[in-house]
Amino acid sequence: MSILAVVGNKGGTGKTTLTLNLATGLSRQDSVVIVDADPQQSAYQWRLIGDEDSGLPPVVAAAYGLGKTVGALREAHTHVVIDCPPSIKAPQTEHALRIAEYVLIPVQPSPMDLWATSHIARIIEKMRPENPGLRALIVMSQTELRTTLSRLMPEAVQELDLPVACTSLRRRSIHRHCVLEGRSVFQVGRRGEAAAAEINDLITEIFAPRHD
Ligand SMILES: Nc1ncnc2c1ncn2[C@@H]1O[C@H](COP(=O)(O)OP(=O)(O)OP(=O)(O)O)[C@@H](O)[C@H]1O
Ligand SMILES: [Mg+2]
Repeated sequence: MSILAVVGNKGGTGKTTLTLNLATGLSRQDSVVIVDADPQQSAYQWRLIGDEDSGLPPVVAAAYGLGKTVGALREAHTHVVIDCPPSIKAPQTEHALRIAEYVLIPVQPSPMDLWATSHIARIIEKMRPENPGLRALIVMSQTELRTTLSRLMPEAVQELDLPVACTSLRRRSIHRHCVLEGRSVFQVGRRGEAAAAEINDLITEIFAPRHD
């Protein structure tokens, strides 16, 4: 049983997209539930667009009463994936950092995203006494092959003082199409193959044995 929180300090970095695809990737092997802790309820809305049998794991809206909701769900599921609002200071994010085993922080290749993310390491360190096992991972998100910013990204994220996932998530139009269809990249056949492979690589990395 694990709790994974997807957090950030900036809007539009790809938190909800990562939450839904990661949860769907995990659900191919295990029982997974998504908890939407963002009052915007994007994950919850996404789930409503798809058919009942869209293949996405269930999404429970819990912007308020997060602890109680996760407490009630954790026994019945192998993984709980929490989508957080775009602020590290939001009470939902603080709560998620207190209860999660893994925290994933998608960051886009933009100086503003990097600046907004610069306090996260400090906040996670402050949480350590309460949650000593918390494992944080920066995930480079919406990267592009040929832009200078994307090329500079691996070096720039080192400044954030947090471990960085080797797997980065490329900007791919299929992610936006999937929103329209209420699906994840795992449910759109060949169109989603490359994006789904990235998510699978990230899953392998998240659960790789710890050496620290
Ligand atoms: N890897 C990607 N490739 C292409 N588009 C992406 C990718 N990841 C996210 N997007 C698109 O970027 C936009 C923002 O993504 P998303 O809603 O997941 O971000 P967010 O961090 O959850 O935003 P918010 O802070 O508002 O909750 C959406 O239109 C989404 O489809
Ligand atoms: Mg979101």
